[in-house]
Amino acid sequence: MLKVIVCDSYEEMSKEGAKVIADQLKAKADSVLGLATGSTPVGMYKCLQEMNKAGEISFKDVTSYNLDEYYPLAPTHDQSYRYFMNANLFDHVDIDKSRTHVPNGLAKDPAEEGKAYDEAVAAAGGIDVQVLGVGQNGHIGFNEPEEELYAGTHLTNLTDNTIEANARFFASKEDVPTQAITMGLATIMQAKKILVLASGANKHAVVKKMVEDDRITTQIPCTVLKAHKDVILVCDKAAYNG
Ligand code: GLP
Repeated sequence: MLKVIVCDSYEEMSKEGAKVIADQLKAKADSVLGLATGSTPVGMYKCLQEMNKAGEISFKDVTSYNLDEYYPLAPTHDQSYRYFMNANLFDHVDIDKSRTHVPNGLAKDPAEEGKAYDEAVAAAGGIDVQVLGVGQNGHIGFNEPEEELYAGTHLTNLTDNTIEANARFFASKEDVPTQAITMGLATIMQAKKILVLASGANKHAVVKKMVEDDRITTQIPCTVLKAHKDVILVCDKAAYNG
């Protein structure tokens, strides 16, 4: 079941998203969170930092698994998703960093890394809430539009469209890695609850595909979320109305 909350602004979307995570942490202090990168959740992470500082929530007993990481890219690279998570959340809250996980962008054997990552998620009891953004092409994590999608965490090629969209963070388009390790569709769908954030008119087309009809297509990976029983989409008016 997809529940939709349409907010007036990016700021309101960020607050609503943070509320979902805060409620989860209040109900279960040792929650396992699935976390996402990209520009969309930055505001939500900021709200969570403030709630943590105010003593409203704690990350002390939280375990986290991030969706994806560029490959090959060192965790110390300022565009790595490990770096992003430290800078946007982990360095500013009371989380135990040894319990935060991001796929290893330097793994010698990415297939083995993927398998071990899924096993670790399962051993942690599975993900309680998975945060997701969506790509302009409907990708979730780095599961790009394809005829066939992967179930488990795996190495994937990035589409030109995604490389183009993410080039703004790198010195040049040529510097964007062409591959990534990403959770697969089963890894994502096995989360008990999924929180999708979408902001801006450039996400309208895929948001519409998620909410407006009943079809699922691997060519727009986020439509697979319709098969999950507890998804909440928090978006702003621009993403919802175009
Ligand atoms: C990135 C990430 C996704 C993210 C998406 C949208 O490439 N792999 O997890 O949701 O693309 O990014 P943004 O929020 O910057 O629009």
